[in-house]
Amino acid sequence: MYETKLRTHTCGELNGKNDGLNVILAGWVKKKRDHGEIVFIDLRDRYGVTQVIIEEGRGDLKEQVKNVRGEFVVRVFGIVRKRPSNMVNKDIKTGEIEVVANKIEILNESEVPPFEIKDELSVQEELRLKYRYLDLRRDTLKETIIARHKTIQSMRTFLSEKGFLEIETPVLTRNTPEGARDYLVPSRNHIGKFYSMAQSPQLYKQLLMVAGFDRYYQFARCFRDEDMRSDRQPEFTQIDIEMSFVDEEDVFKITEGLMKKVFHDVISYDLETPFLRLTYKEAMEKYGSDKPDLRFGCQINDITDMVKNCGFGVFENSDFTFAYNTKQLLSRKQIDEYNDIAKKYGLPGLFYLKYTDEELKGSIVKYLSEDVKHKLIEKLDIKNGDTLFLASGKWKRTLEALGACRRKTGNDFYIKDNEIKYKFLWVTEFPLFEWNEDEEKWEPCHHIFTMPRDEDIEYIESDPGRVHGKLYDLVCNGVEISSGSIRAFKKEIQERIMNVIGLSNEEAEKRFGFLIEGFKYGAPPHGGIAPGLDRLIMIMLNRDNIRDVIAFPKSLKASGIMEDSPSEVDEKRLTELGLKLIKKKGS
Ligand code: AMO
Repeated sequence: MYETKLRTHTCGELNGKNDGLNVILAGWVKKKRDHGEIVFIDLRDRYGVTQVIIEEGRGDLKEQVKNVRGEFVVRVFGIVRKRPSNMVNKDIKTGEIEVVANKIEILNESEVPPFEIKDELSVQEELRLKYRYLDLRRDTLKETIIARHKTIQSMRTFLSEKGFLEIETPVLTRNTPEGARDYLVPSRNHIGKFYSMAQSPQLYKQLLMVAGFDRYYQFARCFRDEDMRSDRQPEFTQIDIEMSFVDEEDVFKITEGLMKKVFHDVISYDLETPFLRLTYKEAMEKYGSDKPDLRFGCQINDITDMVKNCGFGVFENSDFTFAYNTKQLLSRKQIDEYNDIAKKYGLPGLFYLKYTDEELKGSIVKYLSEDVKHKLIEKLDIKNGDTLFLASGKWKRTLEALGACRRKTGNDFYIKDNEIKYKFLWVTEFPLFEWNEDEEKWEPCHHIFTMPRDEDIEYIESDPGRVHGKLYDLVCNGVEISSGSIRAFKKEIQERIMNVIGLSNEEAEKRFGFLIEGFKYGAPPHGGIAPGLDRLIMIMLNRDNIRDVIAFPKSLKASGIMEDSPSEVDEKRLTELGLKLIKKKGS
């Protein structure tokens, strides 16, 4: 398949039809098995594994491979031999044949690797990251990297066919509006000044619309100095998309088409489109999350009115009371774990009820009249053996706490071995502004260039909290895959938004002046979206960790463990940049 000067075939392509063929293979020794007179070598490359056999009577070859160990790089000249049908190895693609060696060259030696190159591995991730090139030889990781390539190719084809132009934008730039902390790069030519590494190409893609390119995309590297999580990396890739003369529906359609194609091309899975849609309010009130996992039920219910006058002070005095049914009989210990989650989310705690022997039980049951109990049982579909949680408080905090509990229920009982593999949905109509309690000011929910819904424009100043944006997230299995918006392309709306968040014209000019300037010259209505490539692949391939889909990821502490980055720099370099360290680590 990929014949070169050093080989005729790869280790993954020979089969029974090649019986008798003279071949040259090259690869890594996966395993050497010495059976006395006969020696087997499993030879591995990217494409697969082929069994090489040194037959009886070839003492010369046996002697030659005496010191060969796992991960040596060897070249084998031999002849393909079909195996008898009872000897076929069904576990490997080349299992029908073996290659009888008549000459072997050792191309390179290998030290004993710090861990065995095999799929089930229990070594610490830190060691795997240090020797990432060895880790990448393992099938599980190799497959994700190959899937990543296929995803990129599939997307390029789709977007290109739909008229999108691939255009690169600068990485060394100035602050962008995503709101995370920037990575800064000191400038040698302008001492005292710094570039910001792009958090996304947001402003550039909007200017490309002003330039008239109409449809743009880019596999954009983005850099954000934020705390790491299992679905976050300090540098990651977005499929950044922007379109002119569109409204939300157009962006949804393109994105759905893109997802459908990728899932089909990469994992042969047919996604059903159009995706389900929930407004932010619905998502929060039903699932306690703006990125709900819909692979299981356990919906949250608003029971405020039902319990408001039941005589229990907490229910009576709280703004809201919500509840959900786990549909599981939970132990005391398990219930305590849920309580801890609720506390982490800022609630004093949770109340629970169990239904056993046709009866509701729990410390608060004495407050519930027969009528309320009856309504609860009906509304929450309570059956024998169910445990339900109730929580009271402010709308967002209470829902988020219950949402986190619901996630635990899902993880513990419903997600594993679930038949439903992917549950995509759009979450729409996010609020445009969010109230920052600490700083007592309004902040943009996404970024300041988001267009409010037409019907909310009149409330921008009078009631910012009720203004919702043409703002959408694509969510799959509880993970935010993409985010985007229709942009506020008119100066007047932008200025009104900036006023609400207290961004002065001067400050806006300083931060986004070039975009605001550009908007003066006939900005078309436009909007876009940016799916996170890493997260998408992680979800598609069912991986728990974003690091598994990136060739050279950063550790949880944002270090490059293999290359030992970040690293100290010479005094001379610092001086050149006009910098002086005021405190070194450990000093
Ligand atoms: P946003 O900041 O929501 O929007 O990012 C879009 C998508 O990028 C992915 N993502 C990340 N992936 C890995 N590690 C991270 N640290 C990380 N941060 C974000 C997520 C997310 O949904 N310019 C806007 C998009 C737009 O409005 O068009 C933006 O960057 O999958």
